[in-house]
Amino acid sequence: MDAIELLLTRQSDPRLVEPAPTDEQLEIIKQAALRVPDHGCIAPWQFIVVTGEGRNRLGEIYYQSAISEQQEEKVINRAKELPFRAPMLIIAIAKYKQHPKVPRIEQVQSAGCAVLAMQQAAFAQGLGGVWRTGYFAQSEGVKEALELTEQDEIVGYLYLGTPAVECKKSAKHKPEQFFTYL
Ligand SMILES: Cc1cc2nc3c(=O)[nH]c(=O)nc-3n(C[C@H](O)[C@H](O)[C@H](O)COP(=O)(O)O)c2cc1C
Repeated sequence: MDAIELLLTRQSDPRLVEPAPTDEQLEIIKQAALRVPDHGCIAPWQFIVVTGEGRNRLGEIYYQSAISEQQEEKVINRAKELPFRAPMLIIAIAKYKQHPKVPRIEQVQSAGCAVLAMQQAAFAQGLGGVWRTGYFAQSEGVKEALELTEQDEIVGYLYLGTPAVECKKSAKHKPEQFFTYL
């Protein structure tokens, strides 16, 4: 797949099954994350790969956080299952670094770019991925368990694996709806 085809056909695959990315595929995904725009060259990122048994640990972190933050019963009941929606997840974190010219929002944007870059790297290798957030990206309990500071931000959980079904999506939007000229 060439770069333009990737950019024009990238899509998410919410239903993901084994196999997970191989070590070689994961290495490319990691390297793609580290090529994103980075104002001030401060590399404000941290990535946590969760796979195999690690998904039980993440589920337990979700579960304990949901209980201590008094979430609704349905959130608590689903907590342990969520990481098992794919064989691998990468937790993408904006690791805040104080800088005179790089506000926190730019650091969060850079980490967001890394999520997309990793998803694209997966897609280009025939894998599937979906970027998810939700309550567990905002939970202080989860951040604490992952040893993050208040200023750090979980920008997303990138679920990775093999698409369960082949479902090619066509383009949803037309450029003229969003682009104007000044
Ligand atoms: C910051 C961000 C957070 C998202 N969080 C979720 C989520 O929690 N759950 C979900 O189903 N989709 C979420 N999405 C949307 C999916 O990643 C995906 O973009 C959407 O299903 C559309 O599919 P497409 O990428 O093929 O257009 C999120 C997207 C972004 C950019």
